[in-house]
Amino acid sequence: MEMNIALLPGDGIGPEVVAQAVKVVQAIGQKFGHQITFKEGLVGACAIDATGDPYPDATHEICAASDAVLFGAIGDPKYDNDPKAKVRPEQGLLRMRQKLGLFANVRPTFTFPSLVHKSPLKLDRVDGVDLVFFRELTGGIYFGEPRGRNEQGTKAFDTNVYTKEEIVRLARMGFEAAQGRRKLLTCVDKANVMATSRLWRETVQELAPEYPDVKVEYEFVDAVAMRLIQWPKAYDVLITENLFGDILTDEASVISGSMGLMPSASLGSKVKLFEPIHGSYPQAAGKDIANPLGTVLSAAMMFDYGFGLKEEAQAISEVVNLSLAEGFVTEDIAEGGKAYKTSEVGDWLAAKILA
Ligand code: IPM
Ligand code: MG
Repeated sequence: MEMNIALLPGDGIGPEVVAQAVKVVQAIGQKFGHQITFKEGLVGACAIDATGDPYPDATHEICAASDAVLFGAIGDPKYDNDPKAKVRPEQGLLRMRQKLGLFANVRPTFTFPSLVHKSPLKLDRVDGVDLVFFRELTGGIYFGEPRGRNEQGTKAFDTNVYTKEEIVRLARMGFEAAQGRRKLLTCVDKANVMATSRLWRETVQELAPEYPDVKVEYEFVDAVAMRLIQWPKAYDVLITENLFGDILTDEASVISGSMGLMPSASLGSKVKLFEPIHGSYPQAAGKDIANPLGTVLSAAMMFDYGFGLKEEAQAISEVVNLSLAEGFVTEDIAEGGKAYKTSEVGDWLAAKILA
């Protein structure tokens, strides 16, 4: 197969971890006979520094013309502590999601047998967890208008807006995913308080009869925040709005014991985007110590969700599991054993794929 992949390394450790995923993708291409070409673009703080814009048109053109986007991380401390900054790296990410039509963010949470003891939660609660969030990504309070301040600057407001159509398209993805899994769908909302949440619940209730094999549960977001860490095995597929999904998916990442390992996919149009859920980790930037496995597993999701190539995705998961089992890992998960460099882990994974 021919694949054009847009690479957006972004800020902080982004370039280092994306470079390792590229090694792995190239090894997969060689092993399975795919023609893979990469084109790189700027996004985030590095794009602001170079062009003044966190998501320049040139980057959008590269993404729009690609078959899939592999993305590292964005963010820089110089913007985090300056609430008055006019241009922010995060705006680039939001605009990219919107312009590429990526309305669904798929974030799986699973455990690795060799790492499960690293979770701060009790082993019997987390061992074998396998759940996935479908977070709505281009609507809700992240994009709703009006937003801003009154003239005196003493009052600020954001608006949460959802249309039925936005809910339907996200919910259908959740139902379909549940059909291929354990057939349990949880609609997470705040329907006891919010009008948008009542529209979510009503819409999901209307769709449910079309998926008779899927059991649907409705839970309030505050209760889910609690049950998710108490009984994570009670969940299979969860669907939710943008802000609730942002918060709950960070919480869910704790279950696996290592945020550095969790991948994600953003879907919705022809071009799909794949990224690790961790941030730009500026303290580690340039040190060759960051864990590249979340990005490598995002590349596995790219083969699976982006190209429908399950065998290739499986081959990547297998070498990642092997590196964990053999302890060929970075310092964050080395646990007193030898810690390898980011680049060494990438080389090792690529060599194992071709072995
Ligand atoms: C995420 C991040 C982003 C979000 C930020 C960086 C804008 O937290 O992808 O979850 O809030 O969506
Ligand atoms: Mg987030």
